[in-house]
Amino acid sequence: MPISPEDKGFGQGSPELARWAEKVFQPEDPVLAEIRARSIREGLPAIAVGRFDGLHLEVLARLVGARKAVEIGTLGGYSGVCLLRGMPEDGVLHTFELDAHHAEVARESFRKAGVANRARIHLGPALQKLREIENEAPFDLCFIDADKTGYPAYLDWAARHLRVGGAVLGDNAFGFGGVAQPDGDEGVRALRRFNEELARGGRFRATMIPTEEGLALGVKVA
Ligand SMILES: C[S@@+](CC[C@H](N)C(=O)[O-])C[C@H]1O[C@@H](n2cnc3c(N)ncnc32)[C@H](O)[C@@H]1O
Repeated sequence: MPISPEDKGFGQGSPELARWAEKVFQPEDPVLAEIRARSIREGLPAIAVGRFDGLHLEVLARLVGARKAVEIGTLGGYSGVCLLRGMPEDGVLHTFELDAHHAEVARESFRKAGVANRARIHLGPALQKLREIENEAPFDLCFIDADKTGYPAYLDWAARHLRVGGAVLGDNAFGFGGVAQPDGDEGVRALRRFNEELARGGRFRATMIPTEEGLALGVKVA
């Protein structure tokens, strides 16, 4: 009887298994594929979430029963469409983006995906613009995927504006491998603080979904 290993990576690091999972779960449909391709054609950096990350977001939004959600870092709207697909017809996503061109591409993505009436794009530095929606709190879900130095402040905002039972998610939580090293640049140090606060700060019960880049997930408990 084989013993289950203590350390398990996504897809067990096997390209064959990853291909199999893509075939069975089909995480990216033609609408999402078009958004990814058009974003690149429009000159946006290729930094949208991966196909399975997008599917995780949709499924997690469904699990939480998210009606009011926040996304920090819109880019071309790929992850926003995934989140909205996991939300009901009367659900609203507030998504925050610094770059006007990214926001324009996202607007078109939301239109093409048929979710434009449920997506509110806020243009400007997220930490300032988040204040504009605080009167709608508490929120059900907050997905953090913007400047890495901002993660600790975004987490603090989420802790103060999510309902108990609401979820916070942070992409790139492994800091591109850097969090496990002794020091690192400002972004890596911020991601380390983000993870430590999420895991041990007492406001969330949290885990790490071991995707390629680390998708940290916490449920607000206090
Ligand atoms: C990794 S991308 C987001 C990807 C997107 N969530 C997706 O998967 O489709 C990060 C985005 O955050 C934006 N950004 C960076 N700093 C920001 C800030 N301070 N406030 C708002 N957006 C910011 C960038 O312009 C970029 O579009």
